[in-house]
Amino acid sequence: MHPVLATLLAAAAPALGLVNPDGTGRLPALGWNSWNEYACDINETVFLRVGQLMIDLGLKDRGYEYVNIDDCWSNKELRRDNITQQIIPDYEKFPNGIKGLADKIHDMGLKLGIYGDAGTSTCGGYAGSIGYEDVDAATFAAWGVDCKLMPRHQDKTVVVEFEQLTGWAGTDLKYDNCNVPEEWYDLWKYAPELWFGGGQAESQDNGDPGSSVTGEPAPAGYDWSTSNTAKRYDLMRDALLGQNRTIQYSLCAWGHSHVEQWGNDTGHSWRMWGDIYPEWDGHYQWSWGLMPILNHASFFYNTTNFWGHNDWDMLEVGNGNLTLEESRSHFAFWSGLKSPLIIGTKLDGIDDEILDILANKELVEFNQDPAYGEGIKPYKWGINPDGTWNQTHPAEFWCGESVKGTHLYVLNTLNATTRKTVDFDEVPGLSGRKTYKVHDMWTGRDLGMAKGKYSMKVKAHDTAALRIEECRGRRCH
Ligand code: GAL
Repeated sequence: MHPVLATLLAAAAPALGLVNPDGTGRLPALGWNSWNEYACDINETVFLRVGQLMIDLGLKDRGYEYVNIDDCWSNKELRRDNITQQIIPDYEKFPNGIKGLADKIHDMGLKLGIYGDAGTSTCGGYAGSIGYEDVDAATFAAWGVDCKLMPRHQDKTVVVEFEQLTGWAGTDLKYDNCNVPEEWYDLWKYAPELWFGGGQAESQDNGDPGSSVTGEPAPAGYDWSTSNTAKRYDLMRDALLGQNRTIQYSLCAWGHSHVEQWGNDTGHSWRMWGDIYPEWDGHYQWSWGLMPILNHASFFYNTTNFWGHNDWDMLEVGNGNLTLEESRSHFAFWSGLKSPLIIGTKLDGIDDEILDILANKELVEFNQDPAYGEGIKPYKWGINPDGTWNQTHPAEFWCGESVKGTHLYVLNTLNATTRKTVDFDEVPGLSGRKTYKVHDMWTGRDLGMAKGKYSMKVKAHDTAALRIEECRGRRCH
């Protein structure tokens, strides 16, 4: 592995996290969110219909449980109640308020998520929470839930026993990063889009100053957990901890201020990059296609474990111009990386083949594995030499462990069907001298036995998701 990369990854390995007695946040969240498909065009009916469809389409049975409201749910003009200071819901969109919707969603056995912002206004210009963390946390809690978030610092490599409470127990707050007041600017700037694969402070001089006072990269060794961004997110964490509810806390700081270095002590998941966009590669303003995001993930994958997850953004599976193969790759990698799997497509009239991707049993099971908290890692780049930073051809060969064995994810970043070969000697933990059963996670079928190497055709932009089991004695035959 590239020496700079090895140092960077070693420095980034997490050890501590927020641990809840009911298990909320131990595994990546599974749910649906309104933003990618509906943006501000939301109302109570949208969420109730989604909740019902999550049940009817079998997604709830697969484990999807959050129905998350994104931006634009409050009254843009009135903003807050003059006396209570509470954010006022938009009663035209939500005639029964958020509490009324939450009650109905809970009656379906699902959980409701809400959206806020660690600035003066949300990205859409609605009331933000900075300076109002306590009142907003209390309001969100009053609209939702039933047990206390108890932070304990815990070594995340240990599999933690916890008492599973019955019934629905939590809600979700996605906390965004727009409209930061100047007095809260960080001293230094760091945005992941300005990182081009070198040392941490390298190439940080392009782009905007990223809400920083100096507009300069941080000196080597700077502790980002002391940054104002970390403090803004900690304020809301502490406010949530003061409520008698479990709230899944999802930081949406877009990877800025090296959130992966401190997010684990602040929330349950943290966005690692700008907004996702339903395209294979390239970007439009601050919205990015899948390959640039996966490229970043191939350097920053190992800050995920139980109780804390890199969030590679909500799913675009089934949206925009993505081909079926691209949607498959998107889902395979987000699930393999143990990102929260938050569906972002319309469930009304969803194509069967898109639903089959989102409900794929083995891929969701890998994401939710009870005993292995880490996600997949790249072991070979394929098109490029290992460790290459490239937004079109990121790492193609990835592996990870689950209770069921070793899993391999083989991506084809080329624009035509290509034969890909897995050399077992190259896969950490496997050996070219042993015989393995190769299983296709997509179809749930065994593909046969292989020794030394396994070759397969992978369509353009598709991903083969394999499980490899060692054959011992008569097993496998
Ligand atoms: C962005 C965020 C998106 C969406 C949007 C709403 O900052 O990354 O996921 O929440 O704001 O305005």
